[in-house]
Amino acid sequence: MEDQLNKLKEDTEQKIREIDDLDLLQELKVAVVGRKGELTLILRGLSSVPDEDRPRLGKMSNDIKQHLISLIDEKEARLKQETLSSRLMEERVDVTMPGQIPETGRIHPLRRTLRRMKEIFEGMGFSVKEGPEVETEYYNFEALNIPAQHASRDMWDSFYLGRDLLLRSHTSPVQVRVMEKEEPPLRVISIGKCFRRDAVDASHFWIFNQVEGFMVDEGVTFGDLKGVLLNFAREMFGKERRIKFIPSYFPFTEPSAEICVDCFVCKGKGCRSCGGSGWLEILGAGMINPAVYKWADGLREKPVYDPEKYTGFAFGIGVERIAMLANGIDDIRLFYENDSRFLKQF
Ligand code: PHE
Repeated sequence: MEDQLNKLKEDTEQKIREIDDLDLLQELKVAVVGRKGELTLILRGLSSVPDEDRPRLGKMSNDIKQHLISLIDEKEARLKQETLSSRLMEERVDVTMPGQIPETGRIHPLRRTLRRMKEIFEGMGFSVKEGPEVETEYYNFEALNIPAQHASRDMWDSFYLGRDLLLRSHTSPVQVRVMEKEEPPLRVISIGKCFRRDAVDASHFWIFNQVEGFMVDEGVTFGDLKGVLLNFAREMFGKERRIKFIPSYFPFTEPSAEICVDCFVCKGKGCRSCGGSGWLEILGAGMINPAVYKWADGLREKPVYDPEKYTGFAFGIGVERIAMLANGIDDIRLFYENDSRFLKQF
């Protein structure tokens, strides 16, 4: 029995030295001094040793038991201390390290241009109205004086969603939609997406944004149109800008014009941006064709849009084109690719 006790003592001491895990240490403790532990079993055998040996062996067993328990407790304390300090080391926060700066988003260049355009026209007393992106043929064409077989429909060829519905090919339908409901004086802009079946290239995309503007009142003249557009061009592109009107054709305006601004890249001398002409085309406009007033009154019992009394102008500006010119962007597709390397530049 004595040998048994000595062997157990040595083995256990050895194991305690080797263990470096609190759980394993706990298991060892149970296995040796627990209720069914090895040492406990040996102690039970005391009853069968000769009487004269019993006191000595009993004391020896108890000493070993106390000795092992105190070794285990000591080791336990040390392991606890070690895990604590290593956790403290690991979790230490170095307050002198540079922080991680979260990336902030920014306004898309197209959206920024839109906001600026809206601001400029609001500053001139225009208020904002909305129209649907899915439009009927009636508003997209008919009510703008573009009958079914008219050749100019080709200019606004679009995506049809059914017999009579299409994705609007311009924002001009909003003119009639607003005039149907409201009476002059009117000063309105409408901003939104348009769709065309254009072949995609550096300056064409099948989706784009327009700002439609129109004004109807007694005595509105071509001079008012010129003043509004000149002011827009100067607010948008610089105080010294000049604009030029070139005769054009739209079924819903008469007379119609394409409006150019002098090229601010080369100051009118001629460069790549303006194709050498010194002028950049930025929008289409004209005096509202009296024929359109017929449709504006379409739902009314008593007509209010009397062409003898009211005149008006309308214009349509391509937002992408303005954003490209304002930011020196040479490919419209960049707006829609959402490449962050591009977007980060604005
Ligand atoms: N709707 C025309 C287009 O998309 C532009 C325009 C608007 C022309 C208003 C004249 C008046 O091409």
